[in-house]
Amino acid sequence: MEKKFIIVIFGGLGDLARNKIYPVLYSLYKKYRLINCTKIISTGRRPNINKEEFYKILKESIKSEDNNFSALFDFVKLDLEKPEDYINLKTVISNYKDDEYIFYLATPPFTFENIIKNLGEFLKDYPNKKKIVIEKPFGYDLESAIKLNKLLKNYFKEDEIYRIDHFLGKETVQNIFGLRFSNIIFEGIWNRNFIDHIQISALEDIGVEGRLGYYDKVGALRDMIQNHLIQILSLIAMEPPCCIDEKAIRDEKVKVLKSIREIKYEEVPNFAVRGQYKGYLIDENLNKSNTETYAVVKFYIENIRWDGIPFYLRTGKKLKKKETSVIIVFRKIPGLFSKILDCIPQENIIGFKIAPENKIVLNFQLRPLGGSILSCPMPTSMEWSGPNTEAYETLFLDIIEGDQTLFIREDEIEKSWEIVQPILDFWKNDPNIPMYEPYTYGPKEAEEFIRKDGREWRYL
Ligand code: BG6
Repeated sequence: MEKKFIIVIFGGLGDLARNKIYPVLYSLYKKYRLINCTKIISTGRRPNINKEEFYKILKESIKSEDNNFSALFDFVKLDLEKPEDYINLKTVISNYKDDEYIFYLATPPFTFENIIKNLGEFLKDYPNKKKIVIEKPFGYDLESAIKLNKLLKNYFKEDEIYRIDHFLGKETVQNIFGLRFSNIIFEGIWNRNFIDHIQISALEDIGVEGRLGYYDKVGALRDMIQNHLIQILSLIAMEPPCCIDEKAIRDEKVKVLKSIREIKYEEVPNFAVRGQYKGYLIDENLNKSNTETYAVVKFYIENIRWDGIPFYLRTGKKLKKKETSVIIVFRKIPGLFSKILDCIPQENIIGFKIAPENKIVLNFQLRPLGGSILSCPMPTSMEWSGPNTEAYETLFLDIIEGDQTLFIREDEIEKSWEIVQPILDFWKNDPNIPMYEPYTYGPKEAEEFIRKDGREWRYL
């Protein structure tokens, strides 16, 4: 018989629960993927809220009046600071003794410690499997991430811990793995002999969107590069795993992170640039802030496949457009055409567009129709595109099924903090932050940064 489970959501009235988790659970419910779920218990602190009001919020969030789905839910009032509220929650949960528990921490990071300790205590004697799901940011720096891991390990085993990075649930991000390891034609060229450099970008046209309390303490490097973009880098750069096995895949990703050349504190200006959009202080009603809303970092991976090939990781808010992409730029073709004046064929490119659409592009050069054999080749492209499914749906299913491949392991999270730590330290001590006009492509310093390397920013 398949195992029954219950889901407990901390932060059940928050944005993440309302905008993502409930709609995703509803979609899974309609696909009969929650048939083994006996109960979903949402918790929240807001005073004056009763079960009826909770059901109203739930129905608004799933945009449906479906009472059968709502009946799956219970609401328990819980102030994360009050130990007596956890005791009440424990009483409710213990009605479901034979089940597996899934605890989802959809709360701000400063609450994690408290929840983990309280959960840990009341689960001490619970013999069945339990899972804990933790949203990013996992820690604030290397030290706090290590501390959080230690705390978690007091109460949960690694195979019970699901550290979420929602980028790993995105269709195109998973296609990177699929394309690389199921097509022999790419393997021979996926290395320093053919590739000039790689750009991994998450550009956003939106600003901080009411998340100032979080964002101003965090900034672009912690918010996007330390987690999402470094995760993509590891999928692009990893070696083929021995087998389709969560341990084997995560081992290979960690190997990449361990091979990243360390950026020393004094070298930071040569490897990273940041910026803040003009008007950030006014938009967010601040007197002063050194928080970066834009960041670029250049990483090198010191191994046989990638030595000498720069990986540029770039992100920013209030930029010209939304584009999340990976662009693999191949070397220029030597000789022949480049000897003809005015004709330098463009480099080949493989592009993965992750957002707003899900597509893969191959750019190559072709002689123009009707031209002579010596005509300068013209750029052309082949494209595949597909629908985008909701990343959280993929990840939620994996949690239910106990597949940790797309979740971040303890060593992986700590290594990725270690990689960015010198940059965080340097920027903390540096009062000068370049500014950029909103709705452009970022500060001129970032343009100069790549131009100095004889390259330019690419877009798909
Ligand atoms: C989140 C960041 O992790 O990712 C946000 O905290 C960012 O600042 C978001 O806007 C981008 O994700 P997506 O899926 O909308 O591209």
